[in-house]
Amino acid sequence: MSGEFVIRGARVLDPATGLDGELDVRVTGGRISEVGPGLSGVRELDAAGLHLFPGFVDVHAHWRTPGREDEETIESGSAAAAAGGFTSVVMMPNTEPVIDSPALVSGLLRRVERESRVRAYVAAALHEGLRGERLTEMQLLREAGAFAVSDDGLGTASAGVLRNGMLYARSAGLPVILHCEDHTLATGAVHDGAVAALAGVPGSPASAEDVATATALVLAAETGARVHITHVSTALSAALVGWFKDRNPNITGDTTPHHLTLTDELVGTLDGMYRVNPPLRPEEDRLLVGEALADGTLDFVATDHAPHAPEEKELPLQEASPGFLGHETAFAALYTELVLEGRLPLARLVQAMSCAPGRWIGEQGRIEPGAPADLVLVDLSEEWEVRPGELLSRSRNTPYLGRRLTGRITGTFVGGEMVHDRMGAKLGL
Ligand code: DOR
Repeated sequence: MSGEFVIRGARVLDPATGLDGELDVRVTGGRISEVGPGLSGVRELDAAGLHLFPGFVDVHAHWRTPGREDEETIESGSAAAAAGGFTSVVMMPNTEPVIDSPALVSGLLRRVERESRVRAYVAAALHEGLRGERLTEMQLLREAGAFAVSDDGLGTASAGVLRNGMLYARSAGLPVILHCEDHTLATGAVHDGAVAALAGVPGSPASAEDVATATALVLAAETGARVHITHVSTALSAALVGWFKDRNPNITGDTTPHHLTLTDELVGTLDGMYRVNPPLRPEEDRLLVGEALADGTLDFVATDHAPHAPEEKELPLQEASPGFLGHETAFAALYTELVLEGRLPLARLVQAMSCAPGRWIGEQGRIEPGAPADLVLVDLSEEWEVRPGELLSRSRNTPYLGRRLTGRITGTFVGGEMVHDRMGAKLGL
């Protein structure tokens, strides 16, 4: 990217560098070259009244490519990500076929280069075919460009297998992203609580997640692997992550916008839309997981963007596929439900969506000279309704459909290129 331009007059907020004020940001050759007051340039973008944050980073997404391009493609998934302010995304390997060989990793990365609007990283499978039996060739996967390993979508079959996987991942230098559910306990479709009982829907107990989280954390401590616990949804799992994190710097954890804003009350609708793994939890868990995010016990937010075709969601809860769209509503849902409700400072939300996952992924999530110009402009005053026709994802399965949210992404930049533009800025970058 060779152009130069100045984003003028936005309220720049970056907890990583301590920036917080009305400032101008100069972008040169795809990188931030200067930050300060009174900057001018040949090309200027008037951003007065808007906020400017480091681009959001989503460590957990399903772009369904290869195999289910009817649900999402790299083009549509990355357009949805850009519309949500995300500048980097990690793609999960539970595709068809599963991303478990070096050829599949390099093939996917070639497609990303051609088709993605945002930076996209490949999490390859921990086990061949996600079957929990044979480990993948992690060293070769890494050489092919894999960024992490994960069996996401499934919990791991046994502690012994998981321990070997962690040892191997450690020697290959890859982080392990873990979906913690014990499938001998997670036999239902929703959280096993009062709402499920009243609705007559089979539930999975919270212990299905907590037992698997505890196992993973114990093994992480023993093996020294770099382990990230994704989509933490219970108060106990959040507390377990906190206890182990205090003793092990290689552990991190995230939770999702939906677990922070929705509860298992929605099970009462019997609508397959609301099935997700791990399931929506009772209000008490939602509040305590939110506190864990606020105080840093949980490091960041990841969306678990999981597109599904209508025929997989327009079903009774027990039969529906689990998963929600996440990219396009993440910031607004969290801003509306947590920041405006006084439960999370805006600066912590930016840290949890940009700085912390950016650091986890590499040298990202910072606004400072020399850093890539991965940025998001947000209008915190805009109210909008989540309408199916306006989503850029190929799928429609958002649990926020019809909701009014506050805070909207007006522009997203990746390496200085405007990959999402609701301002009509037409910078031609
Ligand atoms: O609800 C979920 N859907 N949770 C997962 O972990 C996987 C995802 C999917 O791939 O649909």
